[in-house]
Amino acid sequence: MKKLHLLILFFIAMILPTELVHAQEKFSIERADACLQLAVEQIKVLADRSADGMLPKTFDKGKNFDSESGWWTSGFYPGTLLYLYEYSGEQSLLRMAKQKLLLLEKEKYNTTTHDLGFMLYCSFGNAMRITGDTAAYREILLKGAESLATRYSPITKAIRSWDFDNFPVIIDNMMNLEFLNSASRLSGDKRFADISVMHANTTMRNHYRRDYSCYHVVDYDPKTGNVIKKKTNQGAFDESAWARGQAWGLYGYTMMYRDTGDRKYLAFAKKIASYMLKHPNMPKDLITYWDYDAPDLPADSKYGKYADYRDASTASLTASALLELSTMVKGKLSRYYRETAEQILYNLSTDRYTAKHGTNGGFLLKHSVGSIPHNSEVDVPLTYADYYYVEALMRYKDYYHALK
Ligand code: GLY
Repeated sequence: MKKLHLLILFFIAMILPTELVHAQEKFSIERADACLQLAVEQIKVLADRSADGMLPKTFDKGKNFDSESGWWTSGFYPGTLLYLYEYSGEQSLLRMAKQKLLLLEKEKYNTTTHDLGFMLYCSFGNAMRITGDTAAYREILLKGAESLATRYSPITKAIRSWDFDNFPVIIDNMMNLEFLNSASRLSGDKRFADISVMHANTTMRNHYRRDYSCYHVVDYDPKTGNVIKKKTNQGAFDESAWARGQAWGLYGYTMMYRDTGDRKYLAFAKKIASYMLKHPNMPKDLITYWDYDAPDLPADSKYGKYADYRDASTASLTASALLELSTMVKGKLSRYYRETAEQILYNLSTDRYTAKHGTNGGFLLKHSVGSIPHNSEVDVPLTYADYYYVEALMRYKDYYHALK
């Protein structure tokens, strides 16, 4: 068995590129397979290094950090295991995922966070889709969606993100709508989908600027629904374009078009993509800085020393969103989105971003940024960077086969 693993790793090392490449190089199905094979082996290292009863989060200065099930990233590790089980058919990955799902189940009662889509849909949603076992997961998903729906206000017409400030809504919250859409399909209860549409429309109106960049946070008056303040929490400054926020929005509106068929979401996703991909500060290799405005920060400013930090999590989730968007449009634009996603995946798969097997605490990608203003998880691997990278690789394989 050990010999077989060594052989697989040797094969992966031969296939994966070591240099960053730009437009002239092409991603390929062979490279996608090599990346996924490496991911299958690497996640076993992560499994060995993370504590029982906890969920992997990051790795820093030689140490792995895990979270309790109530932390917003808790669903990504089981979700990644499930994607890799789907890819490889290895039963041990499904077993490991199911152990972690046991820890997560109680979060279906959690009404103190908007992050239930990340926590429960990336995990249980994938489990139900991949195993086909609706009976095992239906009640958990619907209870979780009920909990998320308690945070919706018909006055603000939005789901409350955090329990401080007045009624703060962060752009990240667009990602939880997929969970509500799926709960409507599962239960036949239109209320979840209605909340999702209201939230998406309110966010479109209030989070976005004329250039289709978005604010991170909009704080509403819960009594009137009026906007009190637009600001940032994890970006460089209030008016900046925090990179992951732009990608949450791109992914969110692409998903909303898929789930509703409403073309205004497609048009909006295209505008967001255009803002991101044509931005003068987009680096040539398309692995974004942590904030689109970061490279312009004066060296002596508050975050000036972080001006050139990249965020691989934004890149992986952008690649995943662009692959989906490429299936929703035709011709040149479709090719542009697909080739851009391929270029991102290619560059993420080089030594600069992909860790060697056995290193990086068992995480796949290096160089992500959690929050520079909080000095938290800066230039480290992150569980959600790996999740969206693996998702993008799986999408690439699906679409590649569809294209042939
Ligand atoms: N949802 C929190 C983040 O994107 O960092």
